Amino acid sequence: MQQQLITKNNVFSNKRNVEQPEFTSIDGLSINRRQKMDGLSLMRKIDANSIPLVFFDPQYRSILDKQNYGNEGESRGKRQLELPQMTEDVIVSFIKEIERILIPTGHLMLWVDKYILCSGFSNFVVGTQFEVVDLITWNKNRMGMGYRTRRFSEYLIIFQKPPKMAKGVWQIHDIPDVWTEKVDNGNYNHIHAKPVELQKRLIEAVTNNGDIVVDPAAGGYSVMKSALKAGRQFLGCDILG
Ligand SMILES: C[S@@+](CC[C@H](N)C(=O)[O-])C[C@H]1O[C@@H](n2cnc3c(N)ncnc32)[C@H](O)[C@@H]1O
Repeated sequence: MQQQLITKNNVFSNKRNVEQPEFTSIDGLSINRRQKMDGLSLMRKIDANSIPLVFFDPQYRSILDKQNYGNEGESRGKRQLELPQMTEDVIVSFIKEIERILIPTGHLMLWVDKYILCSGFSNFVVGTQFEVVDLITWNKNRMGMGYRTRRFSEYLIIFQKPPKMAKGVWQIHDIPDVWTEKVDNGNYNHIHAKPVELQKRLIEAVTNNGDIVVDPAAGGYSVMKSALKAGRQFLGCDILG
């Protein structure tokens, strides 16, 4: 991979002037395929300043500690507890590695729930140069759990690696910041599957055709589906395969 960011002058705000450095295959990693490995190990094989977009949807340990899954239905709570958890330290290590592999102006799209949103996520990005540039509420259009109110939404925090800029970088301007999309959570889907169409639109906004989109904790590989639908490539893994 070349360590080079090509920026062309362009006055149109609906054009993207940033290009990913040429991507060459990496020993031991597959493109556009599921692979069973630790996300940190995957990212350590990727060159610095080489990837325009990373999605990260951690398996938050803190939430499981703080919520009473006894109230949430045994089968769902049990299925969540069976997934490998991430402590805050692990999440911080992932985010530092994500910052390293992103190109300047590259984006991290971090999925959080309302507990993380309200209690604060600044600890996750401490020591990095990430800046929050946007927030999307995903209305799942499906009644979730909750004692006081029932959960309908999750949130996507959008961070940018400096330099912070939208013009010439973000090329689609009609994505609403409240997005309704129902995910089929049938037997064949991951319990935390994320909205494929929303992720596809975001991928189209901040990458070019053929670019690489990374997801180091891919779960049911919704990001791979989104990337392929958008004509981009996918590089990612899950510790469970
Ligand atoms: C919230 S889920 C991701 C769901 C995914 N966004 C989707 O749409 O299906 C988090 C995933 O992180 C995985 N995971 C936990 N620790 C990991 C690690 N160290 N490396 C890679 N994946 C990990 C879990 O196995 C779980 O599938």
